[in-house]
This record gives sequence, C-alpha cells and structure tokens, in this order.
Amino acid sequence: MPAHVPAEVRVDEQDIRLLPKAEVHVHLEGTFALVDLLTLAKENGVALPGPAATIFDVSTHDSFAMPEVTTGGTGRGVGGAGLTGFLRFLDWQCGLVRTPEQAARIAYSFAARQTTSGIRYSDVIVNPTHWSAWRGREVALMEALAAGLDEAEQDGLCVTGIAYSLLRTQTAPEAEQAVGALLERRPRRVVALSVDGDEKASGPTGEKFRAAFRLAEAGGLHRTVHAGESSGPDGVWDALDHLHAERIDHGVRSIEDEVLVRRLADEGIPLDLCPRSNITLGVYPDWASHPLPRLAAAGVRVTINTDDPAPLGCTLDEDWAVAAGVFGYDLTALAGFAAESIRASFADDDLKRDLLAELTDATEALTRSTTVPDPEPVP
Ligand code: ADE
Ligand code: ZN
Repeated sequence: MPAHVPAEVRVDEQDIRLLPKAEVHVHLEGTFALVDLLTLAKENGVALPGPAATIFDVSTHDSFAMPEVTTGGTGRGVGGAGLTGFLRFLDWQCGLVRTPEQAARIAYSFAARQTTSGIRYSDVIVNPTHWSAWRGREVALMEALAAGLDEAEQDGLCVTGIAYSLLRTQTAPEAEQAVGALLERRPRRVVALSVDGDEKASGPTGEKFRAAFRLAEAGGLHRTVHAGESSGPDGVWDALDHLHAERIDHGVRSIEDEVLVRRLADEGIPLDLCPRSNITLGVYPDWASHPLPRLAAAGVRVTINTDDPAPLGCTLDEDWAVAAGVFGYDLTALAGFAAESIRASFADDDLKRDLLAELTDATEALTRSTTVPDPEPVP
C-alpha cells in the first residue's frame, strides 16, 4: 500500500458484498470458471489447450500466444499474450458452447457468480463472434442465454440485461444486419448494442458502425462502446461523436485529454473502468498509477468493474477492496460507487429505484455497526 494511504482505510470485503450494486462492464466470455471449461471440453470430447492449472495463462498455449505483441503487461497469466491473444482464447473457449442447454448453464453460472459479490444487476456484454457454433444463429444464442438468466432471476439471483456486442473488425453490413435481426426478433433481455475487441487491430469504428448504431438508437437500444483502452482519447471522441455512446467501456485514457475530460463531466457520460484488467493487459503498470481517482476528482462519473474476472482471477468485491486500500476510499465512498453503478446501468427505472433505496438502508446499517461509540464519561 502506498505511504499516502491512511492505515485505517481498509474496508472489509464482507461489507462490500453487502452493498447492493450493479456491474456494467463484464464480458460473459470472461466469466467461464475452470470447472465450466472442463465440463464443456468433456461434453464435446475436446482436449484442453494446456494444463488445467494454467489454462488462463494464455501466453503459455502455442495456439493463442502472440510472440510479436509487447504488451508491457504482467507477462504472466492472461496479460502475457496481450489483448489479441486473449481474444483468441475466448474464441476457443466459447466455441465449446454448442447447445442451448450449455448456453443457458453458462448464463445461470454467471448470475450466481455476480450474486456472490453482492451484484444485484448486471449489464453483461456478449459478443456472438466468439461463439462459433452460433454463427448465423446469433438471436438463438441470445434466447438460450436469456433462458438461463430468467431461471437465475426466478431463483433470486442477480438480474441481468445483455449488451449485444459487435466485434470491432466486423464490417458495416455485418453490423447493420445484426442490429436489424435484433430489432426484428427482439430477443428477451437484450438492452443495448456494444462494440468490443482490439482497437489497435482495427482503428476507429465510428464511421463504419454509425448506421448500425443509429438503427439501434431509433429502435430503443442503449449504446455502450469500448474505447480509450487500446486506443487513446481519440477512440472516445469517435464513440461519442459517431456512435452516440451513452457509456464508454474503459475510456480510461480520456485522462490524456483535458477537453475530453471536461466533455465527459459536463455531459454526464459514465466511464466503465476496469483497473485490474488495465494493469494485467499493460495499460498502466500498477493500481497506484491508475487514473480512476483523477477522473472522479475531475467530475467524471466512474464505475468500477472487472471486465473478464475469471481469466483475470478476480472478483468485484476484491477489486473494490483493493481500490479502497490504494485510493483511500472508505465505506461511504464505496457506497457512492455502488450508487453510481446502479444509476449508470441500463436496468429499468423501477429496479434502479428499489436498489438505490436498499443501498441507502444497507449503508446506514453498515455505518452504524462499524462506528465505535464514544467512551462513557468517567464519573
Ligand atoms: N473482450 C473481452 N475483453 C475485452 C477487453 N478487455 N477489451 C476489448 N474487448 C474485450
Ligand atoms: Zn471490456
């Protein structure tokens, strides 16, 4: 912990789990646990690409390693192969999901995993291009996932909306066709259109996806776009100007452009930050140098998310505890992040209102239980 952090700023992970909150930047593809992978591989008679113990160490598998990529990341684990190698690993992994039952099971486990961190609502990003068995049947994939999410909700687990994601390297006609199918068939739980993938591999996508995003906007879908992660602030301008993004996934490199920071603050555009992912993939060297507190201090709405928690080996409650320790956030500050996560989410208004009310009650109860009473005066 850096020297400037007061020693008393240590928030218990159990208290963090008790704060009702939303997660708005998490990829379903990044939540498959080892047990999910083993089960799917066995069901399909497919060999793992490497030893189970190091399955998420993408750089150690010949099939995904990108030797030419210098990430500046940790060099180990998921960061070692860079974003491109990691995205290839997701293709392999999601390629194992072949039946509606398997897709529903993965969605159900996702909701259970989220619930364990005290997440009550998630906007989960799903990019069908990773799920090769569903090519040409993307809406059917959404329906299969929705069935798992419905069952999860009935069982009292986290409520989830789906952000259907285009891959940055897709063509304009592919994007428009995908949105056309969504608007025609309106699969349950799809609440937003998104763009993810490697910004370095394809450059800006604003012009290319403008028509698809206009279609989505006119059809009542929300819009969230990955930018300012593997691109600089220019990617964020592109997403705001051309795609009318309501939120930016990452957007962290906006900090390099003062005018952009002012725009984000003035327009109330939330940045869906994922500090651990940025550090593992080499965008920043460590937590202490992450711009999260500087963006928040500049008046930008920020949420704290995991991105790809299974391969990153993290949970949201752990990451909030790390943020509290490194940046000096107490429980009240974390409750502020929880409120922002709910407000920034694409949950419906009734659910937002209920979660915010529950958050107020939970924060009061936790604050009461952790406040040390003044000592009785000595007579
Ligand atoms: N898909 C899954 N994780 C991603 C990330 N960190 N950036 C872009 N696309 C992704
Ligand atoms: Zn992401």
